Amino acid sequence: MPLRPADLTRRKQGGLAITMLTAWDALSAAVVAGAGVDAVLVGDSLAMVVLGHATTLPVTLEEMLHHCRAAGRGLAAAAAHHPPLLICDLPFLSYQCGADEAVAAAGRVLKETPAVAVKLEGAEPETLTVIDRMVRSGIPVMGHLGLTPQSVHQLGYRRQAGDPVSQERLRRRALALQEAGCFALVIEHVPAELASELSASLVIPVIGIGAGDGCDGQVRVTADLLGLTSRQPPFSPPLMEGRALAVEVLGRWVREQGPAAAPAPTPATRPASPAAPHC
Ligand code: KIV
Repeated sequence: MPLRPADLTRRKQGGLAITMLTAWDALSAAVVAGAGVDAVLVGDSLAMVVLGHATTLPVTLEEMLHHCRAAGRGLAAAAAHHPPLLICDLPFLSYQCGADEAVAAAGRVLKETPAVAVKLEGAEPETLTVIDRMVRSGIPVMGHLGLTPQSVHQLGYRRQAGDPVSQERLRRRALALQEAGCFALVIEHVPAELASELSASLVIPVIGIGAGDGCDGQVRVTADLLGLTSRQPPFSPPLMEGRALAVEVLGRWVREQGPAAAPAPTPATRPASPAAPHC
């Protein structure tokens, strides 16, 4: 049986840790499923990690659907009998332009991919309305507070909720998300004591990243844990130097093939060639 959102609550009630990792395609989904995670998130961080954008803002709903379908195929192949819960991020501006459009975007995730839930950022009054509409339409929603990368131009990538006023605001927003019907909450880059306190006070599971060890569960961007990214967040240290390792072993393979080609001629000495075809 695939995991359901309610299973995460049962894990919290049973005092069991919850693990969630990101995936962006069939290959990475199969790897994280093989590791035995409870939940796989097709996060909009794929905009930066995989698509090479500077922020998460440019990724589109179509791209999220495409990558989520691929991740779903990877899970089906790797963990056919007990697949983890598959969750897809709603990208920037797919849920901020009115409740109808937001429900339609979340509905597309459930209709067109094997994901069983969506995640979205923030707890503004409009966002709470949208979450309520989604939940009442049968769409499970995971919230996301603290450092919310879709608000990078307002918040930066700094640690959030550092002072008592913003901590109180975060407490109110977390409770509002629970009351709006979120089945779980991701909390990113906030003080560990606050995250522990929220984990203890909320009924829904609190899944932390850069939020200390006292949360009900932990989520990480898989490429960060594997050391594959060039810009590593300070609150998510790598478990291995995957990028350097890959460059080294692939470089060894390249060298084993024989002497490298001579350097290309400089433009000044290169012979004239016909225009490149448009292909
Ligand atoms: O997009 C993402 O990968 C995320 C995680 C950092 C939780 O939202």
